[in-house]
Amino acid sequence: MPILAAEHLYKIFGRRPHRGVEALQRGVTRDELRADGLTPAVIDASFEVQAGEIFVVMGLSGSGKSTLIRMMNGLHPATSGEVVIAGQRLSTLKGEALRRLRRERIDMVFQHFALLPHQTVGQNAAYALKVQGMNRADREEKAERALQMVGLGGWGDHLPGELSGGMQQRVGLARALAAETDIMLMDEAFSALDPLIRREMQDQLVDLQQRLDKTILFITHDLNEAMRLGDRIAMMRDGRIVQIGTAEQILNDPSTNYVAQFVQDVDRSKVLAAGAVMEPPVAVLGADQGPHAAHKLIREHQLQHLMVVHRDRRPAGVVSAEDVAAAVASQAQTLPLVPVAQLRTVDENVPLGELLTDAAQQREPLMVLDRDGRLAGVIHQVTLLSALGTRRESTRGSTPASASAPTGHEPTGHGSGRSEPDGHEPTAHQEVPV
Ligand SMILES: Nc1ncnc2c1ncn2[C@@H]1O[C@H](COP(=O)(O)OP(=O)(O)O)[C@@H](O)[C@H]1O
Ligand SMILES: [Mg+2]
Repeated sequence: MPILAAEHLYKIFGRRPHRGVEALQRGVTRDELRADGLTPAVIDASFEVQAGEIFVVMGLSGSGKSTLIRMMNGLHPATSGEVVIAGQRLSTLKGEALRRLRRERIDMVFQHFALLPHQTVGQNAAYALKVQGMNRADREEKAERALQMVGLGGWGDHLPGELSGGMQQRVGLARALAAETDIMLMDEAFSALDPLIRREMQDQLVDLQQRLDKTILFITHDLNEAMRLGDRIAMMRDGRIVQIGTAEQILNDPSTNYVAQFVQDVDRSKVLAAGAVMEPPVAVLGADQGPHAAHKLIREHQLQHLMVVHRDRRPAGVVSAEDVAAAVASQAQTLPLVPVAQLRTVDENVPLGELLTDAAQQREPLMVLDRDGRLAGVIHQVTLLSALGTRRESTRGSTPASASAPTGHEPTGHGSGRSEPDGHEPTAHQEVPV
């Protein structure tokens, strides 16, 4: 069962908004409705978020993201459709029941985070707990723990004004963590941060998610951020969700021209992980086998390299067809193994961009390891380079390290007509802590 679901959600601003829903369903366009004084901010949005997932909603400014996320916790009532949280239909909850659900299950982090300037960092982090009526000692302890989680241990007694912008945003994250809700809604939470701090916060969020097993609905207008964070991404345009998928699915199989245009400038090397492009090893050889067994497998599968693994599938090394043929010819008894210690192996989660130098410097295919260090797949140089969209003349075979250094990704045409919003939206939200 999904922990969070949107079922055909509509939000239309203006007088008598329900007529807008019917009109849209009849095929009236968004622009026609606007002329009629209605703003369809969210149109027929449906998705499900599984527990422990980071689900990203991505779209340009004005596409309806904030409106959508505000419906998800009941800050905005939906014009039509339903929000379901852990099996509870939001529209059936009123007053205290709704407030309790919000307090206990959902927390929200905004872009422009409102810290109370005359309260200490610790008091700010504990704010939600105070609202819940928790006693002082407990909430101070929880707030301190949350501050530690975001790298602000020991800052509890300072005033917000003494912290940098990035640190202040961390207090916002700490406040949400201290509340210990299982769902976090984050609306452009990192958009106002400068790139380095932003990157750090993204890493930290992924790390926290893994440790605390939160479910996160994260909103951004930045595709690279979406791809870095999202287990799945919903692409929004003009109020509608036009595609939902993993970063790989969206990059490799965009559902519409709009999405395709959008993703064409993405730096694939930063987004695609090794695991996404690896191939399962065609054949592997047990480390206790000899040259003859290797030779047989190599001939059977017409391999240039054969992966050699221990019984538990941890890699032992690689043998090349050439070396094996020579070993057989000279009746050698031991495998001409290039041991794994001399090879670069990669974790399946490593972004391709970080593999490039390895790929260029090693003749053997890269071994991709799973989290337990077992062989999960291999990446041949050609595969790697073509996955990155890097054109190169050479085809299969032993490409020496002297080949022209790959640049990561080919320059694609810029200026596809979309203007990147700067993250500062003109509509001022009242970001009061809830
Ligand atoms: N309270 C409101 N009243 C009227 N129109 C609104 C309101 N909030 C948002 N809108 C409009 O709804 C559309 C979507 O806005 P928003 O959800 O803020 O988009 P995003 O967060 O993707 O930038 C915009 O056209 C915006 O002007
Ligand atoms: Mg917004």
